Amino acid sequence: MLNFTVVTLFPQMFESPLGHSILKKAQDKGLISIRLVDPRDFTTDRHHVTDDYPYGGGQGMVMKPEPLVSAIEDIRAQNPAARVVLLSPQGAVFTQETATELAQEEGLVLVCGRYEGVDERVKLFVDEELSVGDFTLSGGEPAAMVVIDAVTRLIPGVLGNEKSAADESFSNGLLEYPQYTRPEEFRGMKVPEVLLSGDHERIRQWRREASVRLTMDRRPDLLAKAKLTLEERAKASGIKAPIYVALLHHPVYDKNGQVVTTAVTNMDIHDIARSGRTYGIHGFYVVTPVKALQKLARKIIDHWEQGYGSQYNVTRKEALALVRIKDTLDDVLIDIEQECGEKPLLVVTSARPGGNRTSFADLRDMLLKVSQPFLLILGTGWGLTEAIFSRSDYTLEAIEGSTDYNHLSVRSAAAIVFDRLLGGQ
Ligand SMILES: C[S@@+](CC[C@H](N)C(=O)[O-])C[C@H]1O[C@@H](n2cnc3c(N)ncnc32)[C@H](O)[C@@H]1O
Repeated sequence: MLNFTVVTLFPQMFESPLGHSILKKAQDKGLISIRLVDPRDFTTDRHHVTDDYPYGGGQGMVMKPEPLVSAIEDIRAQNPAARVVLLSPQGAVFTQETATELAQEEGLVLVCGRYEGVDERVKLFVDEELSVGDFTLSGGEPAAMVVIDAVTRLIPGVLGNEKSAADESFSNGLLEYPQYTRPEEFRGMKVPEVLLSGDHERIRQWRREASVRLTMDRRPDLLAKAKLTLEERAKASGIKAPIYVALLHHPVYDKNGQVVTTAVTNMDIHDIARSGRTYGIHGFYVVTPVKALQKLARKIIDHWEQGYGSQYNVTRKEALALVRIKDTLDDVLIDIEQECGEKPLLVVTSARPGGNRTSFADLRDMLLKVSQPFLLILGTGWGLTEAIFSRSDYTLEAIEGSTDYNHLSVRSAAAIVFDRLLGGQ
């Protein structure tokens, strides 16, 4: 049972919205109760004044602190566990996540402002401020009704079918898929065939894809938080090509232009895997022919994949699952070809500007159009050798900062490259 208490100068405004449909039924079933408290009842003067002129001048009136705070204190005394919320355009934005959290409470007090708002000092007597969106209402009452409605429908037993709340827009971080009802054909527009098929798995897939597509078109801001599979994320970004990354420890140059093998580092493996997982990279190859270094890399990965780390930090486990260790670049190409059925296009990166470079914008464009896999090759030491450059299909433009200092770590460069190619723009 969730007890709502609304502090409002206009209790009558709530009669009709609370007297119908789901909110009425929820009250009838004893799943919620709604009490309306008028701050006028907490005034001490003869005229029951609840507002006054703003200090400093300006338009309109401001709600006085004494009646509101007395009302809040009175409610808290009767219901000490209640969470007290002030509806305010300056509050945190009320979302489905907030609604789910509030639905767990036993008591919720919603304080409605009016006029130019409430005296600032009232805010010290509430637990939080919530806004229902970036617009200004004439009062907190419609906002309180929005909160009551969105929270109530999440209380078990309120909706007839518990699953319908789980399917709706925002419940899984996505907008809901399109819905149809009879007739099968309306003014020449037919219901999608799949929905008439009776094939529940196909229907589920169609709805999921439609939901991801709709969210991508209308509310790409929601996608960052939604739980998508790697494939769904790639599709949602519009990127067709599967993208792999290889960190080459050999062959690379040293400071004197000699071809050497560099050491594998814990930080590069972790950080490139984490950035890679964030941006939907399909596989991250650590390339070294030195068996002892392969063993070290394997040990780091196993600790997080199977050992203590796998339970300690599951998100790290998820990122490190991308890592594959190979002897040479050729082994990487074979692996990708086996996985995708075709060879990848090779893109090399270099810190040195100049030469015939492909811009980030052009490569991003290609990723949207071409479905062939791409392999981004990152060097270590003093950079990739000429032999690797001459094998590649594209050389990506260098990352340039805003100074002449140009010594990014390979893991930082990887994150910047991923963001410029695959990030939401
Ligand atoms: C006209 S508004 C006051 C606006 C205030 N002067 C400002 O600019 O922030 C009056 C009352 O309506 C409520 N209100 C207005 N817009 C709201 C929103 N987007 N979300 C929640 N409450 C809102 C608040 O309770 C507020 O105190």
